[in-house]
Amino acid sequence: MSKMEVKTSLLDNMIGVGDMVLLEPLSEDSFIGNLKNRFDHNEIYTYIGSVVISMNPYKPLPIYTAEKVEEYRNRNFYELSPHIYALADEAYRSLRDQDKDQCILITGESGSGKTEASKFVMSYVAAVCGKGQEVNKVKEQLLQSNPVLEAFGNAKTVRNDNSSRFGKYMDIEFDFKGDPLGGVISNYLLEKSRVVKQPRGERNFHIFYQLLSGASEDTLKKLKLDRDFSKYNYLSLDSATVNGLDDAASFRTVRNAMQIVGFMEDEVQSVLELVAAVLKLGNIEFKPESRVNGFDESRVKDKNDLKEMCELLGLEQSVLERAFSFRTVEAKMEKVSTTLNVAQAYYARDALAKNLYSRLFSWLVNRINESIKAQTKVRKKVMGVLDIYGFEIFEDNSFEQFIINYCNEKLQQIFIELTLREEQEEYVREGIEWTNIEYFNNAIICDLIENNQNGILAMLDEECLRPGTVTDETFLDKLNTVCAEHQHFESRQSKNSKFLTDHSLPHNCFRIQHYAGKVLYRVEGFVDKNNDLLYRDLSQAMYKANHSLIKLLFPEGNPSKVNLKRPPTAGFQFKASVGTLMKNLLTKNPNYIRCIKPNDKKAAHIFTDSLVCHQVRYLGLMENVRVRRAGYAFRQAYEPCLERYKMLCKQTWPHWRGQARDGVEVLLTDLQVPVEEFAYGRSKIFIRNPRTLFFLEEKRRQCLEDLATLIQKIFRGWKSRRQFLLLKKSQVVVAAWYRRYAQQKKYQKIRCSALVVQSFIRGWKARKILRELKYKKRCEEAVTTISAYWHGTQARRELRRLKEEAQNKHAVSVIWAAWLGTKVRREYRKFFRANAGKKIYDFTIQRIMQKYFLGLKKTTLSMSPIDKSWPAKPYGFLEGTHQELRRIFHLWRCKKYRSKFTKEMKATYEEKLAASELFKDKKALYPSSVGQPFKGDYVELSKNPKYQKLNSLVEDKVLLADVVSKINRANGKGAPRMFLLTKNNFVLADQKTGQVKTSVPLPDLSSVSVSTQNDGFFALRVKEGATSAAKGDFLLSSDRLIEIITKLHRIGSASADRNQIKIDISDEFLVQFKQDKVCVKFIQGAPKNGNGVICKRKNNRLLEVSVPSP
Ligand SMILES: Nc1ncnc2c1ncn2[C@@H]1O[C@H](COP(=O)(O)OP(=O)(O)OP(=O)(O)O)[C@@H](O)[C@H]1O
Ligand SMILES: [Mg+2]
Repeated sequence: MSKMEVKTSLLDNMIGVGDMVLLEPLSEDSFIGNLKNRFDHNEIYTYIGSVVISMNPYKPLPIYTAEKVEEYRNRNFYELSPHIYALADEAYRSLRDQDKDQCILITGESGSGKTEASKFVMSYVAAVCGKGQEVNKVKEQLLQSNPVLEAFGNAKTVRNDNSSRFGKYMDIEFDFKGDPLGGVISNYLLEKSRVVKQPRGERNFHIFYQLLSGASEDTLKKLKLDRDFSKYNYLSLDSATVNGLDDAASFRTVRNAMQIVGFMEDEVQSVLELVAAVLKLGNIEFKPESRVNGFDESRVKDKNDLKEMCELLGLEQSVLERAFSFRTVEAKMEKVSTTLNVAQAYYARDALAKNLYSRLFSWLVNRINESIKAQTKVRKKVMGVLDIYGFEIFEDNSFEQFIINYCNEKLQQIFIELTLREEQEEYVREGIEWTNIEYFNNAIICDLIENNQNGILAMLDEECLRPGTVTDETFLDKLNTVCAEHQHFESRQSKNSKFLTDHSLPHNCFRIQHYAGKVLYRVEGFVDKNNDLLYRDLSQAMYKANHSLIKLLFPEGNPSKVNLKRPPTAGFQFKASVGTLMKNLLTKNPNYIRCIKPNDKKAAHIFTDSLVCHQVRYLGLMENVRVRRAGYAFRQAYEPCLERYKMLCKQTWPHWRGQARDGVEVLLTDLQVPVEEFAYGRSKIFIRNPRTLFFLEEKRRQCLEDLATLIQKIFRGWKSRRQFLLLKKSQVVVAAWYRRYAQQKKYQKIRCSALVVQSFIRGWKARKILRELKYKKRCEEAVTTISAYWHGTQARRELRRLKEEAQNKHAVSVIWAAWLGTKVRREYRKFFRANAGKKIYDFTIQRIMQKYFLGLKKTTLSMSPIDKSWPAKPYGFLEGTHQELRRIFHLWRCKKYRSKFTKEMKATYEEKLAASELFKDKKALYPSSVGQPFKGDYVELSKNPKYQKLNSLVEDKVLLADVVSKINRANGKGAPRMFLLTKNNFVLADQKTGQVKTSVPLPDLSSVSVSTQNDGFFALRVKEGATSAAKGDFLLSSDRLIEIITKLHRIGSASADRNQIKIDISDEFLVQFKQDKVCVKFIQGAPKNGNGVICKRKNNRLLEVSVPSP
């Protein structure tokens, strides 16, 4: 069904028949066929009136989602297809709105889905009831109590992998608003024999496997446990792991749930320690030890497990060990201690393990109750959910099965009673005629079991309390005598001869015909289990434990509270608690969920007809339907009935203004339904035959089709009109928007134009103002100019006037002075005329000369002879004096200068003077020589070792020594020669070796020729006929020509015996080279640019010397 479709009746889209009451024809086959049909389509829920039949699908179905919860929330029971949520909703709403306490009774055999159903009910109620932090916490705690109790109280059996091994009744308490406040859980008789022994193919309680698989290594170490199941005697190994059960994950869930429920960490630890202790206990083994008195006494075989268990529980090992070997019986102040043999020791061990575990379980329930109990004392509304162990038949049935099946028997009883009473009461309430229906009442079976005088439980108690030897056999004997006549009791030994030859009935068994089938019970263990005794030594040993929880679990072990009274038997306790439960249930409004298992294989999709048929029979479902239908098959309150079928009659459609009952009457009359087919109750209409209902339904379906067409028509019209209106509205909106847009555009244009016009006007205005301002400014400037001019004119006029005034004044003063002078001169002329002028003149001259001389005196004059500076001349008439004084001063300072001369300096200056006389203004080379002092020895003859020999050769003092070039006549090129000049001769020697080449006595020289130019060429002419003349004249060149010639000349003038050497200065002269005379001609060359004087031979007779112009 799609989400959009809305269901209004369980009759919509029905698979088979949703409510068995409507089944037509009604027979067992059609009943089962209908169940099968629905089961095959995953429709696991079917109604019988208000009872829900639930088939176990053995597979997860998507029908428990949050959406489903919402779908069923606040809907009428028959509105939607059958669902457990519909029942839960109905119960919750009548609890909340009509203030009726509710109980939900879930019955069915083991594995039929009771526990699951109870959880669905609880989770539905949790989902729909109030919300809030506190409420959510309560809900969560209530829901989380399930995993904890399931872990400790459920186990895998052959019938069910998660079989509840205890009965559970949980009261959920609500406040007046329907918000949960808390809850109370009651538990009924845990099947504790499972702790020590499990039938084949079954497991111990889940918690043992969960602990070993899921606990961390650390936890296991603390608990002294090993992960390996095979290490523990109490764990069955053939089905240790169950398909689809993840023990490790479940362990985490349980721990988490315990935390949510409110267990403290140390409490959890204590609980786990106890679980571990049970496992350890199972591993303790005994061996016989012979005593002197001939009896065997048991001894613990391997003490390791005992030791570890004692450590876990804080027990003293020796105390426990002793409790396994001895038993103390106290009677009337007497204490008798007997030894235990090995079998008794094992019995004691197992009894301890069972007690330990079942007491732990009860403690857990109490602890959970403590957490979930309502915190307020206000009046509470209660919804009870009963989930007990289902009716079961095993191969080997014992005391536990007897108890479990008794409990189921009682529930069946309550179902029968209440269903019939409810039905009956309804007819009476509604004022409808009612005739009784036959059905099987199981009260007789209940009586067989619970009758206080001769009931089986009473017999058992009697037997247990009887002094003397009591065994299971004596108990069976008793039953055989007391119950032999009972039609539901069967036994071989009974006086009922019918069973004497029944071999399916062993001797040590009895059989009861329960409502759900015959069950064969083996009497072995009945007495023991009913007694449920734990040796006092053991409970006292436990009480001594240094473990708070253990102490709490064995209060009877407290030596100060020894109670010699026998505790009530297990059967008695159970009967009492079932009795209380039944009373409790009877006070509440019952809601039934009848669970059916479709097959024995725990498999989905398999529907075993015979199995289902058996359950249908014993559950009395057929009777249920019949009872329901005997009166009227279908009933409905007037309002919803009118609401559903009002479209079938014109008067009631679409609205009926009057009473709903009248409306229904009009409707049914109009439809011509036979009068016997229905009855009018006070608040409901009762329809006898399902056919009538189907007739109504069919009519309704046809009418709905017409109505659907009508609705479609109206809807289409409405839709088109809506579309049109929408279009119209849209058009208006679009137009408005367009107009807005157009107006905006227009406005923007106008605004732009306005701005342009505005700017032009503003420009025009501004220019006008500018013009005016400019004119104003010009006017102001003109005024300023005019006033400036005017002021200028005024000022100049004033100046002129003042100047004139000043001139006049000056003229006046001059005239006045002239006049005064004239007047004075005229007066004094007679006194001064003779000599005043001359005197004034002399005086003036004197003063001037005085001033001149004083000025000279103040002037510091340089003492350097070459300084030409001299003060400027003062007056013209002193010119001669001035120059004369200058000359005198110069001579004086020259004299002063000379007086400082040494002899050498004097000789030098004389030579310089001589040079000047010889060459000044005659040879261009001269000026360059003036600044150079005449050093004489330029080669340092005496110091140079090269010339040592040369030095010694020359006898006289060397006046001049220098390197000169000797010009070669052949090519005009010069060769360096050492030139020495002494007082008597001159010597030419090799420059490198100092070898004397030529030595010519000075008297042999006739003259020297030099040019006028700036060159160093000079020719030494030898007198004809002299000894040296053979070699001819010498043409030499030296930069120090001036010094050489001057010295040569002065030697001549100094000696008396010789003539002065003649010096020719000319640019062309002849030189005698041996025989030939060669003319040496000097020409002026290009200006000096690096190349010095160049001498070239022009021809045989001409050497041309080109001297660069200065
Ligand atoms: N509505 C359901 N949807 C899916 N699976 C279900 C449903 N009801 C029951 N089952 C399956 O069947 C198994 C047995 O159900 P459940 O434990 O409720 O039986 P029970 O009637 O409580 O049996 P017992 O009397 O042994 O406790 C569940 O473990 C689950 O696998
Ligand atoms: Mg169960």
